[in-house]
Amino acid sequence: MKKTAVHLQNLTKKFNEVTALDNITLEIFNRDFFFLLGPSGCGKTTLLKIIGGLEFPSEGSISILDKDVTRLRANKRNTSMVFQEWALFPHMSVYDNIAFGLKKRKFDKKTITRKVDELLELLHMAGYQNRMPFELSGGQQQRVAIARSLAIEPEVLLLDEPLSNLDLALRQQMRVELVRLHKEINKTFVYVTHDQTEALSMANRIAVMNMGVVVQLDSPETIYKKPKNEYVAKFIGEANEIKGTIVKPNLFVADSGLQIKVPEQDIPTDSRVLFVVRPEEVHLLNQEEELPENHFRARVDTVSYFGRQLRFYVQLVDTGNIFFIDIFSTQLKADIHPNQEVLIGWKPSQTFCFQG
Ligand SMILES: Nc1ncnc2c1ncn2[C@@H]1O[C@H](COP(=O)(O)OP(=O)(O)OP(=O)(O)O)[C@@H](O)[C@H]1O
Ligand SMILES: [Mg+2]
Repeated sequence: MKKTAVHLQNLTKKFNEVTALDNITLEIFNRDFFFLLGPSGCGKTTLLKIIGGLEFPSEGSISILDKDVTRLRANKRNTSMVFQEWALFPHMSVYDNIAFGLKKRKFDKKTITRKVDELLELLHMAGYQNRMPFELSGGQQQRVAIARSLAIEPEVLLLDEPLSNLDLALRQQMRVELVRLHKEINKTFVYVTHDQTEALSMANRIAVMNMGVVVQLDSPETIYKKPKNEYVAKFIGEANEIKGTIVKPNLFVADSGLQIKVPEQDIPTDSRVLFVVRPEEVHLLNQEEELPENHFRARVDTVSYFGRQLRFYVQLVDTGNIFFIDIFSTQLKADIHPNQEVLIGWKPSQTFCFQG
């Protein structure tokens, strides 16, 4: 059985008339790389602060490693937080920044020096002890901020959009490093972001949030492949969407008249639904190969080149529906150009319908 690191029960947080969190119950397991993912204002930072003891809930309870900490202050919890703005103490050296929490906890000088050295090693910054924050790049400052949070050896490390101030290349590098760090130190990480790519590539579990509630909690793969509702499907990844009606358990008819075979879901006949298929699940078909159940003639509208990937916009010949399709450039067998007629299709199992 997995051990629970953080347990939130019926947690609600109100700021006057604003309900920032609305009755959230969830478990974060020991050693999870857990993500809170959602758009701006959905309550991610508030939830993280409540776990860290920097805010208190209006209702509900929170326990960390089976201990009720609902009313405990931040410094009495086994947590440490890295903030959205990672502000180091500007007048202190890297060494003093990292040593700060340790000095407060009255560790002896030798232990402090050893720990600071170890942390800098772990974050690939050995030898930077005497630098001042202004002498560091953004990525290096970020690593020092993480080292500072790790110095007190928290059981749960809370990270609030820690990479948002970095450029894309550095952000991608730091993502890989954080995943490595998480493996090496074997602690629980709770990471807040509004960036779905970040969550999908780093998390082992993701809680997708919307307006103060958790809409879906699953592995990255399940969230992407089996979104629970329209909100999750649209927030995570891109999708072709068509409005229409379920006329038989496995048949969707679009308002344009387009008939699409779909997997049987628990949706009553004659319900209005939104049909969704991801752009990489729509394929350009070859007449000689066995065709999937859904296949349609289409005319190519535009072709956009993105290096390793191509995106086509096509319009169905019979019903006029427009689809976009993503293909790896290496998988394209022949040149495709605007106005050309092609055959497109997808398997019913790769699609979903959501009731409106
Ligand atoms: N101290 C506060 N006083 C009043 N309202 C607040 C306070 N802190 C947060 N809120 C409100 O609570 C809601 C959730 O805010 P929160 O900061 O948790 O969102 P977030 O998901 O972290 O957003 P972002 O991605 O922009 O950082 C918002 O409507 C916000 O305005
Ligand atoms: Mg925030």
